Amino acid sequence: MAERPEPILEVRDLVKHFPLTSGVVIKRQVGAVKAVDGVSFDLYPGETLGIVGESGCGKSTVAKLLMNLERPTAGTIRYKGEDISRLSGRALKAVRRNIQMVFQDPYTSLNPRMTVGDIIGEPFDIHPEVAPKGDRKAKVRELLDVVGLNPEYINRYPHQFSGGQRQRIGIARGLALRPEIIVADEPVSALDVSVQAQVVNLMEKLQDEFGLSYMFIAHDLSIVRHISDRVGVMYLGKMAEIGTDEQIYEHPTHPYTQALLSAVPVPDPEAREGRERIVLEGDVPSPANPPSGCRFRTRCWKAEDRCATETPLLAIPARATGGAAHESACHFAQEREPLTAAG
Ligand SMILES: Nc1ncnc2c1ncn2[C@@H]1O[C@H](COP(=O)(O)OP(=O)(O)O)[C@@H](O)[C@H]1O
Ligand code: SF4
Ligand SMILES: [Mg+2]
Repeated sequence: MAERPEPILEVRDLVKHFPLTSGVVIKRQVGAVKAVDGVSFDLYPGETLGIVGESGCGKSTVAKLLMNLERPTAGTIRYKGEDISRLSGRALKAVRRNIQMVFQDPYTSLNPRMTVGDIIGEPFDIHPEVAPKGDRKAKVRELLDVVGLNPEYINRYPHQFSGGQRQRIGIARGLALRPEIIVADEPVSALDVSVQAQVVNLMEKLQDEFGLSYMFIAHDLSIVRHISDRVGVMYLGKMAEIGTDEQIYEHPTHPYTQALLSAVPVPDPEAREGRERIVLEGDVPSPANPPSGCRFRTRCWKAEDRCATETPLLAIPARATGGAAHESACHFAQEREPLTAAG
């Protein structure tokens, strides 16, 4: 295997607890929503890291922490070796230029009273060094062209565009400052299926053109597989499993990943026959009161006593070989048995 370059982002033991308070006059903290509770991963230059997991597992909170829109309770986020999670003022502004976000909902994330020219050019107000005043219009027209929109539309308003076109505007805005990293939080989840592929293809084209690193968050496993080089699976504020797309989709070793994948429709009838659907019992527990030990144990068919007392660490399972040799947070991480052996 070729030697990997240094990561552009290194996230270590990231924690975000939101306090739960009670009382009207004198507020007391009565607990905490453990939205993100010890998450570690790397992002490499030019790659796409997909993050999947059910609603509420902490994906958007991770994104906000990376963007410095939230402060971590604990842990570090290193960008090119420097911890950026507690920066402020000028230092924060300088780093922010390199990490930009594309949001889920193209209908609410664009200000309806601003023209697309003003929306796309707004980041230049904060970073005038990227585009001096006289150059802005030309830069915005160029950005419209880059995302496949007619530069003549520069004076139109968001409501004059379709959902897919609006997401292109959101992407153009994200690109304005020529960032190195784009954190895309469910960028196509609100779009029609027919439009999703166009936006994903555009993002792939732009990645090559500008050498971008993507963190691509979604709950749709098929889309994530299509765009990602590596994939991380989150459950209740923790990373359950992380590996290449092939490792996660063909050789998952964490029961949660196996259950998620068993619910994805498979177009090939033969592949479908060879696979048993795993139906998870019960609901996702509250992040204010997560289960002890392994967070997945209340829904896991493999759970044993040890799972309630010992928190499994994200690590390569001792006996794993081949495609299954990637990090998984399960005491009994293992590829699924062939179906003939299933009881
Ligand atoms: N500002 C906040 N205050 C309190 N709880 C929050 C806040 N933001 C998110 N949460 C909670 O944290 C958990 C994770 O949320 P989120 O990161 O949005 O998940 P996802 O994006 O995976 O759906 C949820 O239980 C959510 O209700
Ligand atoms: S550690 Fe135990 S409960 Fe958790 S996923 Fe593995 S077997 Fe299931
Ligand atoms: Mg979210």
